[in-house]
Amino acid sequence: MIGRLNHVAIAVPDLAAASAIYRDTLGAQVSAPVDQPDHGVTTVFIALPNTKIELLGVLGDASPIAGFLQKNPFGGIHHVCYEVDDILAARARLKAAGARVLGDGEPRIGAHGKPVLFLHPKDFTGTLVELEQA
Ligand code: CO
Repeated sequence: MIGRLNHVAIAVPDLAAASAIYRDTLGAQVSAPVDQPDHGVTTVFIALPNTKIELLGVLGDASPIAGFLQKNPFGGIHHVCYEVDDILAARARLKAAGARVLGDGEPRIGAHGKPVLFLHPKDFTGTLVELEQA
């Protein structure tokens, strides 16, 4: 059911410093930061030949990554995103298997303008999983 790895998201305490590490130290192609007020994060995308890295910085007082950064003050891998062809079919299959979909269970428009769902880390080997309809 899942297809390509769309991105790995890394939450960071300092987006400018993290961008500089990827751009200058690792020599990657790094985008400008984009505020995502609907998601409480600012994102920077790093384009790799086979996938993307998404750096997440805190935006606003109710950022969903604030708690994660409290537990991981240097930053850390926050989620992985897999592509699916049909997000509603994927949700039906996962729910039938007993997996928990976060939030109200309805797909939202994610940082790439496409429908996404998040799955409970306890059901997926301790990793927050994002599904994106490619
Ligand atoms: Co993501």
